[in-house]
Amino acid sequence: MSDQFTPTSNDDLPHCARLLWDENGLPLSESFDDYYFSKLNGLEETDYIFLQHNQLRQRFASLKAHQSFVIGETGFGTGLNFLASWNLWKECAPADAQLHFISVEKYPLSHADLVRSLLLWPELGESAQQLSQQYPEILHNGFHRLSFDHGRIQLTLIIADACDGLAQLQQSSHPAFATPQRGIDAWFLDGFSPAKNPHMWRPELFQRVHQLSAAKATFATFAAATLVKRGLRENGFQIHTANGFGKKREMVHGELCREFETTPVENFEHNSYNSDFPVPWATTTNSRDDNKSVVIIGAGIAGSHTAQALARRGWSVTLLDQAPRLATAGSGNPQGVLYAKLSHRQETLSDFNLLALQYAQRHYQPYWQYQRELDKAAASGAHSTSSAQSLGQQCGVLQLAFNKKHQQLHQNLLDTYKNQQLFKGLDAKAASELSGIHCEQGGLFFPAAGWLNPASLCQQLIDHPNIQVQYNTKVVALTPLPQGWQIDLEGDQRRDQLTSPVVVLTNAHQSQDFHITRELPLKPVRGQVSYLNSSAETQQLKTVLCGDGYLPPSYDHQHCLGATFDPRNSSLDVTAEDHQRNLDTLAAQLPALADSLTEDNVNGGRAALRCTTPDYLPLVGPMPIYEDYLRDYALLRKNARSNIPLAGSHWPGLYLNVGHGSRGLAYTPICAETLAAEINREPSPVGQSLQTALHPGRFWIRDLIRGKR
Ligand SMILES: Cc1cc2nc3c(=O)[nH]c(=O)nc-3n(C[C@H](O)[C@H](O)[C@H](O)COP(=O)(O)OP(=O)(O)OC[C@H]3O[C@@H](n4cnc5c(N)ncnc54)[C@H](O)[C@@H]3O)c2cc1C
Ligand SMILES: C[S@@+](CC[C@H](N)C(=O)[O-])C[C@H]1O[C@@H](n2cnc3c(N)ncnc32)[C@H](O)[C@@H]1O
Repeated sequence: MSDQFTPTSNDDLPHCARLLWDENGLPLSESFDDYYFSKLNGLEETDYIFLQHNQLRQRFASLKAHQSFVIGETGFGTGLNFLASWNLWKECAPADAQLHFISVEKYPLSHADLVRSLLLWPELGESAQQLSQQYPEILHNGFHRLSFDHGRIQLTLIIADACDGLAQLQQSSHPAFATPQRGIDAWFLDGFSPAKNPHMWRPELFQRVHQLSAAKATFATFAAATLVKRGLRENGFQIHTANGFGKKREMVHGELCREFETTPVENFEHNSYNSDFPVPWATTTNSRDDNKSVVIIGAGIAGSHTAQALARRGWSVTLLDQAPRLATAGSGNPQGVLYAKLSHRQETLSDFNLLALQYAQRHYQPYWQYQRELDKAAASGAHSTSSAQSLGQQCGVLQLAFNKKHQQLHQNLLDTYKNQQLFKGLDAKAASELSGIHCEQGGLFFPAAGWLNPASLCQQLIDHPNIQVQYNTKVVALTPLPQGWQIDLEGDQRRDQLTSPVVVLTNAHQSQDFHITRELPLKPVRGQVSYLNSSAETQQLKTVLCGDGYLPPSYDHQHCLGATFDPRNSSLDVTAEDHQRNLDTLAAQLPALADSLTEDNVNGGRAALRCTTPDYLPLVGPMPIYEDYLRDYALLRKNARSNIPLAGSHWPGLYLNVGHGSRGLAYTPICAETLAAEINREPSPVGQSLQTALHPGRFWIRDLIRGKR
């Protein structure tokens, strides 16, 4: 290393890129010994190579309303290519079209390095600032979906090796079903030069690019090595060379002239021998509905988030609920806490929680910000306090290490995820100072989390011209029609009927009340919260305290103390016994605080049902046909790795978003986005593995394998 290069200290971030900064303040990679962008002018290089040679200006400008365009990139680096594409999009794409930018990065920049790199480009303005604000707090392996400009710009940052990450965009790893949910329209093949980074530019990369390309896809790359030209030519692309940028002699660009063909299903024999490929039960061959009209059943946080996600994509949404207003069931508590269940182990539940929590924190940011502004205006007298409920408060969430098991869990998390922004470890003294309450133990503090009032949130979510809500309307039957669904309604002393090409069930455990959904393994679990008049001590609370229950800071001198968990009881009666259980749980963890409260502080409460699943993950995706699954996948009873080259049989146009258990606030935003992307045929925000893990048919498949069905 020469003296003029200064390294960034990333010793605590082993998975992040190690950068050096040259005498002009430009970043280069220590491991690859190469610059992130041209020393002459990185932004001009991006414009010349990637934007111009994919003809993006013309292609963006010719899009129609609600059309989407997908860019795929290898090597996100500093995000310069992404920001340049976004800025061009703002200049020339129709206002309601959607840009998807998918980038796969093996060695992500730390937040500090990203910010420092982007300071080089003041002309990128607002968008660079927004990227650094939303850049993931923990850069763990897997998918990160960042959404900008009210969802018109969707960035899917995949932390993985290019080939592995791109494979996650396929619906299945089975070669006969390896098509993407939505193909890529333009490729930015970045990554350091093939001479310095041969591992990335391997033949498999070009095969992936081919498999994932949409019809008429184009590509551009600064890399003009023979292996790049050959790899792309052998994989369906016509190759052109052009002058390189600056002093570089050549660059390469081209367009797809031979679409990828999946291996025909007939090539795979149907038998119970060990297969090299997974059974593609989570894949669907149902076609997309172009009417863009949907009925959503259930107006809690799952239904409202799903309604918003589809409305923003130009769908006309009818949201039905049997109740007289929004969020009356599981979502009806005045204060719900945004929290997740994390583990230091890389396992599906924890991976999903990490992704969902980070997505949710970003998603709720504007709602909390809006509430802050209202509160500020009210405090200054500029605005009278409205009678509407607060949306919530981004006051942070302190998860107390209330027993040995939790102390160990927190320590493991701190050891695994070092030097990140999502949470920090606090001892008892720091926890007391931060929360304003005497804490006998420390814990993990999540500064960007907080509490929300679900009903006010739902009200904001459904405030969209494409969403129409119908209350007092109970759906009593669903019948498949040759095209779409007949929806039988009951309510307001009348019986009625609706039809719709697409239906989404967001009605929690009641989604299994229909004939075709009766085999879903959903279970209601009762919970009761207690409303507490604040005491002088609890009034000091500045952040949410969570342990074996939770206590948010007061709003209007009231706290919502939560919550009991009772799987054997589905009564909705509020009981004095459960209030006492809530107070006892609080006393066990925060005795000093509990001492300031008596039963007299309890001023009501409510009981409701959570909707849980056997593996604690929600059910998100198309509704499988039970009888067909049992017939098609019967061989799994003999061998879990049978050769069964059959896509899952699903009810056309019927989807689910249910089973959010105790974490609806964390789960529903990303689940709604995942489902909307599937219904609207867009790239998945979570990737194939997690999408399969959320698929509603998974329990039947597991049961077949275990011989239980
Ligand atoms: C006591 C308690 C405390 C909780 N605390 C938290 C917390 O702090 N943080 C957190 O993240 N989560 C918490 N949860 C969990 C969270 O509330 C749920 O995960 C979330 O509300 C689920 O939302 P949902 O929209 O899926 O279901 P619901 O809110 O239950 O909505 C389902 C809707 O469907 C409607 N419906 C049902 N059947 C029909 C039909 N046939 N026709 C028409 N409409 C129908 C219902 O009226 C209802 O409005 C708590 C839950 C409970 C019970
Ligand atoms: C030249 S930089 C990309 C610059 C970037 N597009 C930008 O706009 O700043 C190359 C990037 O490729 C990444 N990379 C290298 N090998 C990779 C691999 N095998 N898979 C994914 N990314 C890789 C590097 O970490 C680096 O961020």
